[in-house]
Amino acid sequence: MISSFCLFIFVLGVLCGYKIRLPKKVKALEGSCVFITCTFDIDQQYKDDLTDSAKRMWFKAGGSTAVFDSSSSNTGLLKGKIFGTATQKNCTTRFDDVDQSHRGSYYFRIETNGKLKHSYTEPTYSQVQIGVLGSPPKPTLSVFKDQQKVMKKEVEVIEGSSVSLRCSTKIFCPSRPPSLTWSSSLIESVTGQQYQSQTELISDLNFTVSHRHHRVTFTCTAAHQLQKQITKQESRLLSVQYAPKNTSVRINPAGLVLEGRSVTLSCSSDANPAVNYTWYRDTERPLNPVQTGPNLTINNTDPTHSGRYYCTVENKHGTQNSSVLLDVQCEYYE
Ligand SMILES: *[C@@H]1O[C@H](CO)[C@@H](O)[C@H](O)[C@H]1NC(C)=O
Ligand SMILES: *[C@@H]1O[C@H](CO)[C@@H](O)[C@H](O)[C@H]1NC(C)=O
Ligand SMILES: *[C@@H]1O[C@H](CO)[C@@H](O)[C@H](O)[C@H]1NC(C)=O
Ligand SMILES: *[C@@H]1O[C@H](CO)[C@@H](O)[C@H](O)[C@H]1NC(C)=O
Ligand SMILES: *[C@@H]1O[C@H](CO)[C@@H](O)[C@H](O)[C@H]1NC(C)=O
Ligand SMILES: *[C@@H]1O[C@H](CO)[C@@H](O)[C@H](O)[C@H]1NC(C)=O
Ligand SMILES: *[C@@H]1O[C@H](CO)[C@@H](O)[C@H](O)[C@H]1NC(C)=O
Repeated sequence: MISSFCLFIFVLGVLCGYKIRLPKKVKALEGSCVFITCTFDIDQQYKDDLTDSAKRMWFKAGGSTAVFDSSSSNTGLLKGKIFGTATQKNCTTRFDDVDQSHRGSYYFRIETNGKLKHSYTEPTYSQVQIGVLGSPPKPTLSVFKDQQKVMKKEVEVIEGSSVSLRCSTKIFCPSRPPSLTWSSSLIESVTGQQYQSQTELISDLNFTVSHRHHRVTFTCTAAHQLQKQITKQESRLLSVQYAPKNTSVRINPAGLVLEGRSVTLSCSSDANPAVNYTWYRDTERPLNPVQTGPNLTINNTDPTHSGRYYCTVENKHGTQNSSVLLDVQCEYYE
């Protein structure tokens, strides 16, 4: 039963026991190297033929000469290195200095001095397709707030919440990995926590948002070492909502206010979204009529206007107040 099944498969062009595991597609970067992780199996009847002197070769689909041969690894069209040994059934290969002419499908061949000679051409998924990028892609920057991914370029966050910026980039050639760095318009430098897998480099920037991060752009730069260094970057702008801070009141004109002159009390506050303003005087009750807006102007001052004025500011995240003492002096005394 088994052997007739094998025979059937044989007729289709797949020899029983000849299996290969390798990626269907790999993306290479021009000027860099590409790794193909690969293992193969042979028909058990030829297992005695397999010694470490077996040639492990790569052919380009449609081509008739080997583009890579483990027995003379620098003579083929593709330079590189094959790893492990033939008896380990390892065909993991690194091709160096890939260029656009290397695009295409490749298959593996094992060739011994004995009867074992086999090309792994069928089925088509036994071949690896090498794609070649002309330049490195931008890194991928994702922002998470409350574990939720935010898709926008401008990220709205509330002060005190935690935010995670994750930058990642593909590692094309593990022996010359790229690097990731963060930068921002903040005064202090920003350093991410870095992780690396075989194929990906990740840098996380996790922090608790403060008002200082408002309108700050965070940029992740990936630097790829090719013939020359090529950098690509991706940015996100944070828009932070925060309660009023630094609320203060100024008197204009400054100094002594003479009776009959006009005076403006100007209230300012740093907040997002913008605050609304309410003016109070000495008491807990707002001025009558209720005064709103950042400026309180008294046109024709007299000594009864003297006293402490409060400006209370409010947005949906909080409230703050500040006060100033207004002293209106009679013009004719002192
Ligand atoms: C093949 O060789 C590579 C590189 O040395 C190694 O990482 C891998 O584990 C080997 N695979 C097997 C199945 O031995
Ligand atoms: C950053 O936050 C993300 C998501 O919350 C988490 O998966 C990751 O482990 C954190 N990284 C560090 C370095 O704390
Ligand atoms: C408040 O003002 C001080 C001094 O001008 C400044 O250092 C601080 O950053 C300000 N805070 C906010 C929230 O704007
Ligand atoms: C408030 O007064 C200041 C000058 O004291 C002025 O620059 C500003 O434009 C005024 N704001 C409004 C809303 O009137
Ligand atoms: C103060 O005077 C200005 C211009 O003279 C006028 O526009 C404004 O309405 C006056 N304000 C009050 C509270 O009377
Ligand atoms: C000021 O804003 C707060 C919250 O945004 C709102 O509840 C309040 O009614 C506003 N006050 C005035 C006087 O507009
Ligand atoms: C000003 O702020 C203080 C402290 O937060 C608070 O006790 C007071 O009631 C506020 N005054 C006004 C007029 O809002």
